[in-house]
Amino acid sequence: MRLKTIDIGGLAAPNNVFLAPLAGYTNAVFREMCLRLGAGLTFTEMVSAKGLCYNSKNTEELLYITPSYGGIKAVQLFGGDPEFMERAACSEHIAPFDLIDINMGCPVPKIFNNGEGSALLADMPRAAALIRACKKSGKRVSVKFRTGLSAGKIVAADFAKMCEDSGADMITVHGRTRDKIYAGEVDFGAIAGAKAAVGIPVIANGGVFCDEDAERLMNETGADGVMVARGAMYAPWIFAELTGGGPPDRRALVLKQLEDTAALFGERFALVFMRKMAAFYTKGKKGSSALRERLFACDGLQKLRQMIEEAEF
Ligand SMILES: Cc1cc2nc3c(=O)[nH]c(=O)nc-3n(C[C@H](O)[C@H](O)[C@H](O)COP(=O)(O)O)c2cc1C
Repeated sequence: MRLKTIDIGGLAAPNNVFLAPLAGYTNAVFREMCLRLGAGLTFTEMVSAKGLCYNSKNTEELLYITPSYGGIKAVQLFGGDPEFMERAACSEHIAPFDLIDINMGCPVPKIFNNGEGSALLADMPRAAALIRACKKSGKRVSVKFRTGLSAGKIVAADFAKMCEDSGADMITVHGRTRDKIYAGEVDFGAIAGAKAAVGIPVIANGGVFCDEDAERLMNETGADGVMVARGAMYAPWIFAELTGGGPPDRRALVLKQLEDTAALFGERFALVFMRKMAAFYTKGKKGSSALRERLFACDGLQKLRQMIEEAEF
């Protein structure tokens, strides 16, 4: 993969391999682990602008940043109301962040039916107002969106232009339509169309699970960088592979993730979360289905540590 720095409205991301926002996964510990493995930029899970304005307890955890996190701090917000978006973007909760990404791709009905996430693909004036609302915070703003709602309604190039005209400093295009959710081929042509339409950095997203995938996505779209989602959820060491870092000690990484997660979010959360992550990380390895069953029956952190010690990653 061809590495380069990305200039996001004057903020320099050290490389062009980014960790995607992943609800339920990209917590503070996971983000720092990916950053240390080589990710050029990481994002929080998506955070509701409205929830943030109402100080919901859960929001605080989503926005937490480890003190040792050394990268650009990027938060992802979702919402459909420019007034709430502006209040959220200008709030003290967002003050520690350098970059606000706006979610305009989420396909989930609860979000979509609220006029948020991918619903904005069909409402460009509102999408533009949301970008301008975030820009009032004085922070860099990026937008992550899909190519369209369905195959007959590809809007990627026009939407990209709208983002740039409204003040966005970068865009990420997930090369699938809303109705495809996370499955199916990535539409290289639609991402290429978005790239050709704007001068701001364009990051391509979808289907990157190894260096070859990243290379192909870059070549076929002309994008400036790639964003990795499920590939990182199953193998965070993909960042070392894509950025040319040496192969890390995977077991040591997973054990550290376990300890850091327990210290930050408590043992109960760490047990449930890390059982799931250990199952992801070992998928496809010898004995992984038997291990998976044992993992899900595991009822204590000490036992989980032992299983990680013995597992093949
Ligand atoms: C479990 C899960 C949670 C996700 N959460 C978010 C999110 O909070 N915000 C967002 O913009 N996209 C979210 N996505 C979409 C991913 O960021 C990404 O666009 C999508 O998975 C395609 O990339 P991939 O093919 O590399 O997985 C999520 C995807 C998955 C599978």
